[in-house]
Parts: sequence; C-alpha cells; structure tokens
Amino acid sequence: MNWLDSVIEAPVDPIFGLNTRFVEDKRPHKVNLGVGSYKTEDLQSYIMPVVLKAEQLVLKKYIDKEYLPIGGDPIYGAKAAELALGKDVDKDRLAIIQTVGGEGALRLGAEFLIRNNICDTIAISDPTWPNHPPTFTSAGLKVVTYPYHDKETHQLLWEPMLESLKKLPKKSAVLLHACCHNPSGCDLSESQWIELANIMLEHELLPFFDCAYQGFGEHESKDNFSMRYFANKFPVVLYAYSFSKNFGLYAERTGAFFLIGKNPETTKKAYSQLLTVARYSYSNPPCHGARIVKEVLTDEIMTKEWHDQIKAMRDRIADMRKVFVQKMKAKGVDWSFFQADKGLFTLTGLSKNQVEELIQEHAIFMPANGRINVAGISHKNCDYIVDAFSSLS
Ligand SMILES: Cc1ncc(COP(=O)(O)O)c(C=O)c1O
Repeated sequence: MNWLDSVIEAPVDPIFGLNTRFVEDKRPHKVNLGVGSYKTEDLQSYIMPVVLKAEQLVLKKYIDKEYLPIGGDPIYGAKAAELALGKDVDKDRLAIIQTVGGEGALRLGAEFLIRNNICDTIAISDPTWPNHPPTFTSAGLKVVTYPYHDKETHQLLWEPMLESLKKLPKKSAVLLHACCHNPSGCDLSESQWIELANIMLEHELLPFFDCAYQGFGEHESKDNFSMRYFANKFPVVLYAYSFSKNFGLYAERTGAFFLIGKNPETTKKAYSQLLTVARYSYSNPPCHGARIVKEVLTDEIMTKEWHDQIKAMRDRIADMRKVFVQKMKAKGVDWSFFQADKGLFTLTGLSKNQVEELIQEHAIFMPANGRINVAGISHKNCDYIVDAFSSLS
C-alpha cells in the first residue's frame, strides 16, 4: 500500500517558481523584476543600517531564547500598533497578536473569522496578491472578488468597485490593501477611503486590512491613513501587518495582527480566541525580528534613522519610476501611469506572451500577470529594459 497514491502534485508558486527560473538562467545580463523585495541601485539585497545596528544591540542584550507569550512581546506589539494605527487609537478596543510575518496575520484573521462564525465570505480585489485567495480558502472562507484595477487603462475601477461591494451579502469581510496595492500600485485617495468607509458601514461590511508596505508609498504617516480612519469609524476592524518589507526582515517572519473591537469586553473575548488560533497552529511567534523592531521603535534616535532610511528607499523607487517614464517617452511610448503608481509594484499590462518574450529573448523576468518590482530597475539596467519593453511585438 502506497499511502501517497492519492497525493497529486501542487502547482509551483508563481513568484518563488519564477525566482528559481531566474537563478538557473546563465545569461549575465539577466534582470529580475519578479522578486517581492527591495534592491539597491547595485541590485543587491539590502539590510537597513538601523536594522544592523539594532541587531548588534539585540545580540548583546538577550541571553535567552525562551518562548515568547502566545500573543508575542507586548512592547513590540504596542509599538507596531502605534506605527500602523497611530498614537491616538483607542487602546481599550485594541487586541494585538505578534504573528509569523504578514501572511501569518492574514491566516490568523481568517481562521478567527471562521471559527467564531463572524462571517463566511471575504471579498478580495481583482487583481490581488496571489497568496490571498488560497490563504482565505484554506481557512474555510468563501472568496469572491470585487473589480479594482483595469490593466489596459491602468486606472482604479472606482465605481465598479463600489457597485460590487454594495451587492455583497451583509456581514461579508472585505480585504483592503492599506497602501501600495499589490500588484497594481494603484491606491485610493483619502476622499475615496472616506467614501468607501461610509458605503461599507451602510452595507454592514467588515474591513480586513492587509498592510505590507507602510512607508513605500508617500510617507509612513500618510500610508496608514485608511487604517487610522477606519479604526475610528467602525465597530470592528481587522488588520494584518508585515515588517518584512519596511524593515527588510523578510526571513525573520515579523508581523502583527490587530483587532479593533466594539468595546473592551468583546475585544477581550476576541483576544482570547485569537490566542487559541495562534496556539494550535504555530504555538508562539519567533523572537529575533521582533526584538530588532522593538529596539528601533523604542529608541527615538533609531526610530528617526529608520524613517530616514525608508525615505531613501522610497525615493530611489520614485526616481526609477520617473527616469523609466522619461526614457520610454523618448522611445515614443507613453508610460505616465508608471510614475503615478505607489510602492514596489506596477501592473505593466503586458500579455502572457509578451512576458514570455521578455524572459526568453531578453532575460527579463517577471510573473505571468506582468507585475514588475520597480526595485529591480536601476540606472545601470534601465536603458536595457526600456529597449526591450519598447521593442515588444
Ligand atoms: C500584499 C501582501 N500582503 C502580505 C504579504 C506578506 O508578507 P510577509 O512576507 O510578511 O508574510 C505580502 C508579501 O509579499 C504582500 O505582498
């Protein structure tokens, strides 16, 4: 008896699968526009200097690797919540769980919704990060989509989005990218967030924010507008937060789940249930990345250094967007949308065939949906990419 006869091979992950293809490619001029991490002007991985500094302090300061509490380090959690939701958030209505990255927080929130019969459906944007649908369906939620971004016109599908949300069954959850929408790079304006909040309140929809890019859009304090605004407006809000990108702690799995409850009593009960979800999946969170974040955010000088360093990363991306648009324009191609997009990503609108042509003919790698990571572009490879893009059939 082969117990594994019933196992069928799972599809390769679209992003990590592409990375393997990139690594195996022998062409020296190859370009990786597929990865989901920040790269320097030299196209190298980047450890923020303040993160290195904090890490040295952490190594000296901690002599143990004891288990953290199930909900994680409370000081780390409080500092993460302050950064995401602002200092004025009502702490009596706030539950915080330190999680295994942002993905861990999404899954924790999904299981919490299902296990406690809060809702059975979640609406996600079309398009979205490819991990969203399987994360929610694996937890048992029904996933539906709402129109968000038109890849031909590169515009937000604002009216269709609202009309679609209005038709959702009451008490459905709605997943919202707090800023730097992945993959489109297209965000709501502040006035659109306000209008959306009113519509969601009227239709009794539950906001579930995913925030993986705070600081990559306009500024840390602007990128969290939606999350702060909804926290004050709604009786209940869920948040999945990631430090993978804005602290460059990808492999340290450093994230948080926040819940705003209607009142202190229901928030406390919800917190107890969140702890059970955590306990029976990963038990308690990893400590190293959280110690680094805590070291930075509890120190005024290091916090300022972090703000400065994320600004430099944000500025490099904005500069590459600008230069790229100018160079495309010189080739007679209008790519102005590219400059308006926010964060690491943009949906180019390139077809599957064009993406394959770029990989095969030019060694320029990106996932089949045509999403590119702007941090994969530098002043050195920019002309090469522009030549390839503007020559596409
Ligand atoms: C939109 C979005 N949400 C969540 C995550 C999860 O981040 P983490 O690596 O912290 O799990 C990512 C990572 O790429 C993302 O792009």
